[in-house]
Amino acid sequence: MIAASYRVDKISACSDKTRKKRYFIYDHAIRCTLQACRHDWRHIFLGRLGAKVRCGPYDLQQASLAGRVSSPTGSNSGHRLMLSERLDLAGSKARRVPRALRQVRDVISAIPRVRLACLPTPLQEARNLSKLLGGPRIFVKRDDLTGVAFGGNKTRNLEFRLAAAQAMGADAIVMELDQQSNSARQTAGCCNRLGLDTVLVLVGSRPEPVQGNLLVNYLLGADVRYASSIAEQRRQSTEALAELRAEGRKPCLLNDIPMFDEGSAIAYLESTCEVVEALAEKGLEPDCFYMSSSGKGQAGQILAQMLLGGFAVRGITATDEFNIPPRGAEIANRTAHTLGLNVAVTPDDVINDAAFVGEAYGVPSAAGNEAVRLFARTEGIILDPVYTGKAAAGMIAHIRRGDFNREEIVVFVHTGGTPAIFTHNQLWLDNAARQ
Ligand SMILES: Cc1ncc(COP(=O)(O)O)c(C=O)c1O
Repeated sequence: MIAASYRVDKISACSDKTRKKRYFIYDHAIRCTLQACRHDWRHIFLGRLGAKVRCGPYDLQQASLAGRVSSPTGSNSGHRLMLSERLDLAGSKARRVPRALRQVRDVISAIPRVRLACLPTPLQEARNLSKLLGGPRIFVKRDDLTGVAFGGNKTRNLEFRLAAAQAMGADAIVMELDQQSNSARQTAGCCNRLGLDTVLVLVGSRPEPVQGNLLVNYLLGADVRYASSIAEQRRQSTEALAELRAEGRKPCLLNDIPMFDEGSAIAYLESTCEVVEALAEKGLEPDCFYMSSSGKGQAGQILAQMLLGGFAVRGITATDEFNIPPRGAEIANRTAHTLGLNVAVTPDDVINDAAFVGEAYGVPSAAGNEAVRLFARTEGIILDPVYTGKAAAGMIAHIRRGDFNREEIVVFVHTGGTPAIFTHNQLWLDNAARQ
């Protein structure tokens, strides 16, 4: 069922018509009130109160305000909602966007791609973890199993990125990334599949011993170069491009093509469709997605949320390098334009939590390590301490504070990154010793 074909239409006892104030309604609260029906709860109250009222998954600490309108600061305005009527969206804004998942897939199929990933990835229910936490139902989208060089989210993205590079005539790829980048590893693996040479210009110096993603880069045969700073990285990649051109090659600096970001967003629009399809086969629908993202992949999930409706999207970032809401919205809008979708995303639509970064990007956190251990010991699923562990820590913290009831369906998207466990091997030995 496509959630956007219904809406809730009534608010009663809201006497605040005169105040031109922007209200937020907490999605969790609304879903509490409306457990029996699915609907597009985004933007559905626009104009109804004589004020701009938007629904979105904002601070769920306010979930206890079920059925109430809250101010942007989170205080309870005291106005009760009555959400009682389901209507067709005929004539409404939502009608202009594709209403069916099949249409979303058609839109994606028009974008050039090369097939690299094993898709769809499995969706596994984590019953033991869910039981341990006292619910909700948790499903893990196994995007760590995309199939190239230990897998991960980037293999999906690379189907679009590398198709764009090949369309430009590229026969070699230059990529600027971090020393322990998952993206670098998957790029080298995918380039091997396509017969493209890879130069990786990584910020950092060669460590001793070489481990994790970096080790895999060498095994894959990539030309690995180290740069001491971002400026030096650009200088070296420019040099690598010049060297390749001098050899008569056609190199492409992958970071600089528009598909770099948009490929991630399209990939996660599609991944979300896969989840909705897999759950629909079981007669289920998702309530909330959790994923490690600094905005690119999440942009795609938000497009899916807008097009298919009915679920919340909570990104958890592993870095505080970016201001993610405007970044995510910009990528989502650019991607919507490329796909020809009539969707507008604002920074308010991008809910991304930076509370689980911990000390810094790349530094394991206690909460993240606990999540890695929990997934391993309850489900046999290996997360990583840099990205997915921290995202899982966010999901677990939200579950523990009571954001979800037992029947709700939470999807954790496992974006990969597992080779990082080997660069932090002491962590797991210590954990074992403490048990
Ligand atoms: C394992 C893992 N998860 C999540 C991310 C974040 O991806 P994005 O910001 O593209 O959504 C990355 C990015 O490098 C990653 O390696």
